[in-house]
Amino acid sequence: MSMKRAIERIALADARRFEERMRGLQEKILEKCQNDATRRILKDLIAEEDEHLRRLDQVSAPESRSKIEKRPELRGRTVREMLTEILEMEKAAVAFYDLLAERTAVPAFRELFRGLAAAERRHEACLAEHVRNVLPSSPWQKSFGLRAVL
Ligand SMILES: [Fe+2]
Ligand SMILES: [Fe+2]
Repeated sequence: MSMKRAIERIALADARRFEERMRGLQEKILEKCQNDATRRILKDLIAEEDEHLRRLDQVSAPESRSKIEKRPELRGRTVREMLTEILEMEKAAVAFYDLLAERTAVPAFRELFRGLAAAERRHEACLAEHVRNVLPSSPWQKSFGLRAVL
């Protein structure tokens, strides 16, 4: 295998692990979250990360497909804190895919990574808006009845 091809394989395997980790965290938050709007967003994100995994699988080596990672741990305690952690991961995903798109020598992969970067950018924007506008950030806000949105 050429060096170039080996590097592509490593990049694809990293992307896959990243997607699995994000999906795992999103599922964990979904288990703890009661709010309908937040649940809808999480379900949409999980469905999209699944679609990203399928797209990566179409071009990945078979041996990298079946590894299921242990479910990652969440550091945040509240739904807001957990969503903020996911938001940071979506931001990191944008940077990661932008970099892969820029560095890859394979035109088909460049399109794939560009498409994934665009999707993660939408995830980031959607979560940022939700955290900013819907989820209460202080006990003061919670005490005025906004707790229900959690
Ligand atoms: Fe993704
Ligand atoms: Fe995402």
